Amino acid sequence: MDFCKRHFLVALVAVLGLVVVAYVGVKANLQVLFGVVAPYLAALLFIEGLIYRVFKWLRSPVPFRIPTTAGQHDSLPWIERTWEEKLDNPATTGHLVGRLALEVLAFRSLFRNLRSELLQDPDNPEGARLVHWSYKWLWLGAIAFHYAFLVVLLRHLRFFTEPVPGFVHLLDSADGFLQFFVPVVYISGLVLLAAATYLLARRLYNPALRYISLAADYFPLLLIITIAITGILMRYFYKTDIIAVKQLALGLVTFHPQVPPGISPLFYIHIFLVSVLFAYFPFSKLLHAPGVFLSPSRNLATNNRRVRHINPWNYPVKFHSYEEYEDRFREAMVEAEIPVEKMPPPEEEEEETPAPAAKAEKAPEEEEG
Ligand code: HEM
Repeated sequence: MDFCKRHFLVALVAVLGLVVVAYVGVKANLQVLFGVVAPYLAALLFIEGLIYRVFKWLRSPVPFRIPTTAGQHDSLPWIERTWEEKLDNPATTGHLVGRLALEVLAFRSLFRNLRSELLQDPDNPEGARLVHWSYKWLWLGAIAFHYAFLVVLLRHLRFFTEPVPGFVHLLDSADGFLQFFVPVVYISGLVLLAAATYLLARRLYNPALRYISLAADYFPLLLIITIAITGILMRYFYKTDIIAVKQLALGLVTFHPQVPPGISPLFYIHIFLVSVLFAYFPFSKLLHAPGVFLSPSRNLATNNRRVRHINPWNYPVKFHSYEEYEDRFREAMVEAEIPVEKMPPPEEEEEETPAPAAKAEKAPEEEEG
């Protein structure tokens, strides 16, 4: 089987396996396991895993600033910089906050994504031409996916709070403006499903992307799609007892867990998949969410030309200067005809020693004297 397809199938089987496990478990009256134990375990793994990963990042040395972006750095006051350059290479905290905010809220770097492709050259029927063009679909899919996910999560707060905060009601009525249907249709749930499906289809359809995609890329997407499908089924097609769901959810957050009767297996599948997603989050690529705030190429001002930065991780090192090196090996270098900066001192001439004959001549005189 094709290597790329195998990764997709592994992820698909894993997600379907989780669905079957939850369904069989609930049929075997293991509601407590899927409605209470799994969510608590997931919350524990999520919080502990997140703290562990974030601290690991914080402890990693960042000896240098890493200006990865293009454009003019801030240097001499008379060199003009556009506002884009100021955001690309932020020299002040204000600009830095601007860059991070645009990245987090508007996915700015993804917006500037380019696509390159070899296309038929219209001037030369046998040749090809490399074409670059601005590609916005990925940005649109990613923005729709993340914002829809956020809105769905915030709307779900109505299950976990009593009284429900005002902003959740507001979100509810804004999101459910399609009032012609009963129950009211939430746009964000449908957008979440559509956007996640697009992100998955893009990986499967594009051969280059399919080649670099692993089960770890497919698994979270399939998991989120299945969570959205089970949620939508539960809301519009196979209703569950929402009062009982709220009792269960409130019991979880107040640490008085209970499993009221009347909740359908679909709900337990939904919440079990959500638990797996949360438990998996800190150990997966999904961790890019908090990671963007801790990325040195995003969160450090590019002021290398104005400010001298001393590596805070420096430790005292015994340097061996070139001078010392040459002092040590000078004679060998000269012998090997390697150029040196300082020539060795000329050899001192030997003191003239009297000829042995003269000595011999002098000796009898001394004897005479
Ligand atoms: C990653 C977290 C979650 C996601 C992405 C998610 C997604 C969804 C979606 C898309 C729907 C369809 C209706 C809508 O758009 O609101 C839904 C419905 C539902 N979800 Fe979730 N959900 C999540 C977590 C939870 C949790 C923790 C619970 C536990 C209380 C839960 C309980 C429900 C219920 C009971 C419904 C039916 C809603 C209704 O009938 O109005 N969900 N979910």
